[in-house]
Amino acid sequence: MSTQLDKIKELIELRAQARLGGGEKAIEKQHERGKYTARERIAQLLDEGSFEELDMFMKHRSTNFGMDKKHFLGDGVVTGYGTIEGRLVYVFAQDFTVLGGSLSETMAQKICKVMDMAMKMGAPVIGLNDSGGARIQEGINALAGYAEIFQRNILASGVIPQISAILGPCAGGAVYSPALTDFTIMAKGISYMFLTGPKVVKTVTGEDVTQEQLGGASVHASKSGVTHFAAEDGEDAIRIIRKLISYIPQNNLEEAPLAPCDDPIDRVEDALNEIIPESATRPYDMYEVIGAIVDNGEFLEIQRDYAKNIIVGFARMNGQSVGIVANQPKFLAGVLDSNASRKGARFVRFCDAFNIPLVTLVDVPGFLPGTGQEYNGVILHGAKLLYAYGEATVPKVTVTLRKSYGGSHIVMSCKQLRGDMNYAWPSAEIAVMGGAGAVEVLYAKEAKAAEDPAKVLAEKEAEYNKLFCNPYNAARYGYIDDVIEPRNTRFRVIRALQQLATKKVTNPAKKHGNIPL
Ligand code: HXC
Repeated sequence: MSTQLDKIKELIELRAQARLGGGEKAIEKQHERGKYTARERIAQLLDEGSFEELDMFMKHRSTNFGMDKKHFLGDGVVTGYGTIEGRLVYVFAQDFTVLGGSLSETMAQKICKVMDMAMKMGAPVIGLNDSGGARIQEGINALAGYAEIFQRNILASGVIPQISAILGPCAGGAVYSPALTDFTIMAKGISYMFLTGPKVVKTVTGEDVTQEQLGGASVHASKSGVTHFAAEDGEDAIRIIRKLISYIPQNNLEEAPLAPCDDPIDRVEDALNEIIPESATRPYDMYEVIGAIVDNGEFLEIQRDYAKNIIVGFARMNGQSVGIVANQPKFLAGVLDSNASRKGARFVRFCDAFNIPLVTLVDVPGFLPGTGQEYNGVILHGAKLLYAYGEATVPKVTVTLRKSYGGSHIVMSCKQLRGDMNYAWPSAEIAVMGGAGAVEVLYAKEAKAAEDPAKVLAEKEAEYNKLFCNPYNAARYGYIDDVIEPRNTRFRVIRALQQLATKKVTNPAKKHGNIPL
């Protein structure tokens, strides 16, 4: 008869076996590929010693293709919970050392269990993906497992934050779980995402592409916008997750954690009084404005390399998390186009779902004209951003720095879209359109008939600019709450946010709206 101590010894041995995943050789191979193992990644992600593993003894139930003889304790995914800076998070990390991290029915059950727990407890769920996709030997059961995960991603959307890191392969339908989550981080060099790999692409379209060209981190960060971050490597990806978590609340009923703030809230930034160039067509760098007004200049940018004409990301003002949305005059003159609209809309909706106030910095000449944009559906994409701002009930503070013309003026969190505090700098130009375009429409005939058409147009443009291209016309009607000195922007925005802390607005009851997707 085995004693209690023998049984404990057996437990310890089984645990040690489970912790080896696919075995020492497979771990070595994983390291050779420049990748960490699932457990090493979890150790990097969570506070030291905080990880509680679940379902270490689960095994797959497949018997096809010799699978009855291939068993690994824990079966290809490590799941559990722990803390990040003391805050509860749930995590699953696919273990590539076990059958290439391929997803079995059992793995899906383990992942679904932590997702269900995260929902019950109201805590973020973080997935570390590194998998060859559906476990081929399991057939339809593996597909069903994916579908169970996707369904949970959908129901958790807007309730708890969901973050996906891609730290290896992620192909076929497997890409849809990350795509359904709030933020995706891909590690450069070791990760790729695509629906069909290079071989299928070659067969179907004749295109020759490498995995990296088709779905590497840089491609998805800059061209498709599928990933929100392209991390330098696996460790950097984990660092980004920890940082991201620090800005967001545990769930949709809570607020983001308040950080201690040692940056004076009334810090005056004289440089902002001189940042707008004399010429309206000369750019300046919106990053300088963001850096000058947020706590300690710290800004976590989302989708940095995609649609650079709009900047979105998290910062803190007086320790409070805020979502910054800003046009970037340095890139395409800050114009709104399809990609910028989609990027902005998704971010605004995340902030609204998770009670993070929005600070919008406006310098936008309009929407990008042309067939390229129209054929691409810029009407619908622009409407997404419009919808997102109009639907948002979080505190909304808008500062117009320079241009704010036409439709883009409305879209960028104007007063009538329930902007709570709308400020403008004295350099603001809030009008239907710019002076040159306006006089072309209004005085084309008159100019043509005149001896010196250019003189007529120049005179009329000056008249138009004086009348309309300023903040006071909008302020006169209460569309702008105050015209502020640029150097005081930090203080004025923080004051506005303090005032808005108790804001309560609800939208009409409905099943859900029908955002123009
Ligand atoms: C079962 C798999 C597997 C899979 C990999 N393995 N993918 N086992 N099902 N999908 C196993 C390999 O047989 C191997 O086992 C081990 O994992 C490591 O794989 P390697 O090929 O040695 O690694 P590497 O050279 O790094 O290549 C990784 C890879 C490649 C590119 C991911 O394994 C690959 O192409 N796998 C198949 C990918 C695929 O077609 N998946 C199905 C997609 S369809 P041993 O025992 O030799 O160590 C899909 C549908 C999802 O996923 C739909 C959701 C809705």
